[in-house]
Amino acid sequence: MQTSDTVSLAQAGAIALIRIDNPPVNAAGYSVRAGIVAALDWLADHPEVKAAALFAAGRTFIAGADIREFGKPPQDPWLPEVCNRIEACETPIVCILHGTTLGGGLEVALSAHARIAMPGTKVGLPEVHLGILPGAGGTQRTPRLTGQAFAVEAIVSGRHIPADEALSVGLIDALTDAPDPESAARQAAQAVVDCTLATRRTGELQVSPDPDALAAARSQTRAKHPHLFSPLKCIDAVAASTLPLPEGLARERVLFTECLNSPQRAGLIHAFFAERATAKVPEAAATPRAFQHVGVIGAGTMGSGIATACLLAGLNVTLTDQTDTALQAAQSRISDNLAGAVKRGKLSPEARDAALQAFTTTDDLTTLADCDLIIEAAFEDMDVKAQIFRQLDQIAKPGAVLATNTSYLDVNAIARQSARRGDVLGLHFFSPAHIMRLLEVVVADATTPEVTATGFALAKKLRKIAVRSGVCDGFIGNRILMTTRREAEYMMLDGATPQQIDDALEAAGWALGPFRTSDLAGLDIAWAQRQRRAATRPADERYVEVPDRLCEAGHVGRKAGAGYYLADGAPNPAVATALEAERQAKGITLRDFDAKDIVTRYLTAMIMEAASIVEEGIALRPIDVDVVLLFGYGFPRHLGGPLHQADQIGAQTLVDRLTTYAQEDAQFWRIPQILCDMAQTNTSFADRNG
Ligand code: CAA
Repeated sequence: MQTSDTVSLAQAGAIALIRIDNPPVNAAGYSVRAGIVAALDWLADHPEVKAAALFAAGRTFIAGADIREFGKPPQDPWLPEVCNRIEACETPIVCILHGTTLGGGLEVALSAHARIAMPGTKVGLPEVHLGILPGAGGTQRTPRLTGQAFAVEAIVSGRHIPADEALSVGLIDALTDAPDPESAARQAAQAVVDCTLATRRTGELQVSPDPDALAAARSQTRAKHPHLFSPLKCIDAVAASTLPLPEGLARERVLFTECLNSPQRAGLIHAFFAERATAKVPEAAATPRAFQHVGVIGAGTMGSGIATACLLAGLNVTLTDQTDTALQAAQSRISDNLAGAVKRGKLSPEARDAALQAFTTTDDLTTLADCDLIIEAAFEDMDVKAQIFRQLDQIAKPGAVLATNTSYLDVNAIARQSARRGDVLGLHFFSPAHIMRLLEVVVADATTPEVTATGFALAKKLRKIAVRSGVCDGFIGNRILMTTRREAEYMMLDGATPQQIDDALEAAGWALGPFRTSDLAGLDIAWAQRQRRAATRPADERYVEVPDRLCEAGHVGRKAGAGYYLADGAPNPAVATALEAERQAKGITLRDFDAKDIVTRYLTAMIMEAASIVEEGIALRPIDVDVVLLFGYGFPRHLGGPLHQADQIGAQTLVDRLTTYAQEDAQFWRIPQILCDMAQTNTSFADRNG
């Protein structure tokens, strides 16, 4: 019988099987919670049932609370109540775990009287990644089974724990060899009736205090996640597990509510859904073209990284360049990358050998005739790329997808070199390409839906997050970077040091400030880009010359041993000299910037450009911009992305702020119409995410 839309119960003599069926991941939404409680009520009325087993249909046991319900008014029964009811149930209940039994799913299982896992199951309490803590007894029942040291590590890391390890630490009681969760449930319930499977209440177990483990976790967490709110709350909650269960649960509830109300929770949950939303593009309905053999043109850092990423995904790769020296250097870089993957446990030695077998190099472009997908990663120069695309027209087989990995250049202009414009798209990888998860799929005017869908299919194969971008200078990410870099340079010229700016942003959670990022990436890339723009730069645009002076002196960043900083991380004195000269020549009146001003101005510049990108339709939705910044540019995940932040600030406040800033420099500070419209209609970017 159905006990709710998503839960059913079947009695077979002395056993009952409770089945959850709430695709795609059996999240413990209202209907699942209500269905379980109704099943418990039924058990209370049927004393002839001596044991019950709870299992789920589909790809996983419950993968957590339903995240979509967070921030909305709670609906009884709450998950903590459901867990307490399971634990208190007079009829012993066994949980059968499979797939990814996470968060509230594991908490349901911990409150059952025994836990059996299918092989390959992973369990975990990943709530910390959503800015919360396991709030349905996870911080109290886990230490009762494993001790505080394991519990605190598992909860603060939020990692997925393989079934074998879960068994060895006592989180689960046994592995089953039953063919499916339903058979496992039948066997386990019968084993309880037959007294061959022991049951007990987790909440009745005692926890020994482990103050050393908690103190170590606190100091590690403070050092590793200084900006984050919930990890320390997780530790506080585990510390309460030595209290009697009701008191520990009450403490957990207070801490959970603090996390739930924190803006970081909203940012992290926004990031969770954003990451999954970007694949939903109009072209998703098209059938991607098949690709197994990928050609990569250009054996530099990008080309080698792209080749590595494809090899790691099991694709065949032919890498081409003009010189043997370049190819040999790439070959050893790629071998090192693969060896690194083996060392990190990401690749088996056998898979590494297979990848090397699937890899060839050649200085003959015509060898790419067999390739299904060709990715040009040559020097960032329109003439070079145009020439390659003209040649590819003669070489590539019909139906091959032709991609350019450009960071800034006009993909329409590149496509026009080809007689098969529909086959051409941009695939903007981020360096190191085998590590960074972002891929901008740049759709040119003539790119066919199948070719765009192939870009997305490639990203999926490479386990990357693809974001669709239209064509403009710098696409989504680098266009925003150009604007924020300009604002950082203006602040520098007007009185802040690069170190002050970097430190302010890093203290706010950015992975790396803009000047340290420039040093890492190399100042010469932006220099070349500025030179390209020189002829078309508006006469009234403020231009900061310090970066040019540094490049002219060979201080192009870390690879040259000096940029904004020296090799040891100390500020490069050449920066102060160049700044002094430029300030004097331009008669700049210096001003004070505190850390808050720096972050506010930088973020506002970012929001301004991001809003224009949405307004122009370069990004499909605000959420796409957020994902680009989160996964390609070190934007702090707990802030959710620039346009999520824009919503927290409010459109009217942004319009007012931009109006004030525009009084200083009306050429740089613009008020995008979309922000004015949103202020007028009292709407948000979230309303435009669809
Ligand atoms: N609630 C609501 N929706 C969820 C969800 C959840 N807990 N977990 C996944 N989904 C949705 C995804 O948004 C996605 O939806 P769309 O298809 O509409 O995009 C769909 O389920 C499939 O998810 P994935 O694409 O991520 O599928 P996957 O197979 O790659 O990964 C997974 C599956 C490992 C379960 C992954 O989705 C995941 O990590 N989910 C989150 C798990 C989690 O954090 N659980 C804790 C929740 S908080 C909690 O439980 C609080 C508490 O203590 C009471």
